[in-house]
Amino acid sequence: MQRRKLLTAPATLSIASALPVIPAKQAGMESLQFGPNFNFGISTSAYQIEGAVHEGGRAPSIWDVFCHEPHHITDGDTADVACDHYHRMPEDIDLIAGAGIKNYRFSICWSRLFPTDDRTPNATGFGFYDLLIDRLLAKNIAPWMCLYHWDLPQRLQERGGWRNRDTSARLAEFSDQVSRHFGDRVSHWMVLNEAAVHSRFGHGVGVHAPGLTGMASWASALHHLNLGQGLTIQALRANGVKGRIGTVACVEPIWPSTDKPEDVAAAQRLDAMWNGAVLDPLLAGHYPELVAEYFEPFCQPGDLEQTHQPIDLLGVNYYSRLHIQADPSVPLDANFGPDHAPVKYTALGWPIEPDGLPEILMRITNTYNRQEIFISENGFATVQDGRPVNGLRDAGRIAYLQQHLSFLKKAIDQGANVSGYFVWTLLDDFEWDGGLKWRFGLVDVDYETQKRTPKDSYHWYAQLIKLNTAVTA
Ligand code: FCB
Repeated sequence: MQRRKLLTAPATLSIASALPVIPAKQAGMESLQFGPNFNFGISTSAYQIEGAVHEGGRAPSIWDVFCHEPHHITDGDTADVACDHYHRMPEDIDLIAGAGIKNYRFSICWSRLFPTDDRTPNATGFGFYDLLIDRLLAKNIAPWMCLYHWDLPQRLQERGGWRNRDTSARLAEFSDQVSRHFGDRVSHWMVLNEAAVHSRFGHGVGVHAPGLTGMASWASALHHLNLGQGLTIQALRANGVKGRIGTVACVEPIWPSTDKPEDVAAAQRLDAMWNGAVLDPLLAGHYPELVAEYFEPFCQPGDLEQTHQPIDLLGVNYYSRLHIQADPSVPLDANFGPDHAPVKYTALGWPIEPDGLPEILMRITNTYNRQEIFISENGFATVQDGRPVNGLRDAGRIAYLQQHLSFLKKAIDQGANVSGYFVWTLLDDFEWDGGLKWRFGLVDVDYETQKRTPKDSYHWYAQLIKLNTAVTA
């Protein structure tokens, strides 16, 4: 099972980048009013943009190792340089400020902050994030810090990584030290990014770092991520951090590709593994019945009290529904199947299904007591080799964002408690197994010169934010 689906869409499918340009006035912008307390933002992650992997005392993470092994990443790309954000951070924050974006979700690199062991902070690493946060605050942008976006220090992987129960305690200890340092300045703390993707693709089917496969590996990694998250939330609360506390999950409706009983069963099981096994331990204190047996070998008495912690808000990453068919030939028994026509696709072959957003938001709302939510990622990729032919005129991206915001509004009207929306992402960046070819940014990056050029979508987003601010000011 690939990270999601096909790398390129089959020729018979319509490609969303062929959608017509939507002039701003007709883009439905006037109807996209979200009220005075709504947070528009933008998300990035450390490994995908920073580069400078050998600088400032940083040690390797599991992704550095994975990228340098053959055949893992499209075209053998690595993130050794990526967007060189480590050296260009001020310019990048100016781009955020330039669009009037007031909320920035970024992650911190654990192996930059604690390269040698769990107790010895690296002053250079802390200094980098001090500068970043202080610059955000100087520009009146709220820092939303994600503590763990998939880049485990390799030194911990060598001790078993997330299959080792001790890694849960290591995450809490790391977060404890980080929150003592930044606790007076961070507005929002997000503990994990997408435990479902990290556990399944990294530890179940092996297409992400650290490249492990199998049911036991997946279940132990996910349980220890859930446990580490619970311990971390408690550590942040004990430290009295001033920001709000939450986490980020990738929650998507999972539909069977056909009515065949085996596909229906595969979709139900994947739903329990992907959505339920991430949200239930945190918000309800149990594992879904359908898959609870896989966690039994790792779940010790009292663990589900530790994982079950009140949070202030839940980040939901949404890209599309997942359409699933049974496939005993792949690890974890389920694969992506054909979608329910008629559906348009992004250039990655990801279906464009904005109506899946209210579907999943209402489910969260109804299942978990109207939990406050923000959309922590939503975005659109083109696939591009070398320089853009017409990469700056990204009408397909604008259409995608606009459609998702319209459906978000419907969910709010239906009663979902949604307080924000963050686009993935600021810059074209290193997209994991997709390498540098998958371009999600509102800002184009020329990897040869590192020149940044805002695309049409950047200006569109700035206009949307301005309109919302003007009306609500
Ligand atoms: C999500 C990841 C994020 C980014 C987007 C496209 O699964 O959280 O880092 O790669 O997909």
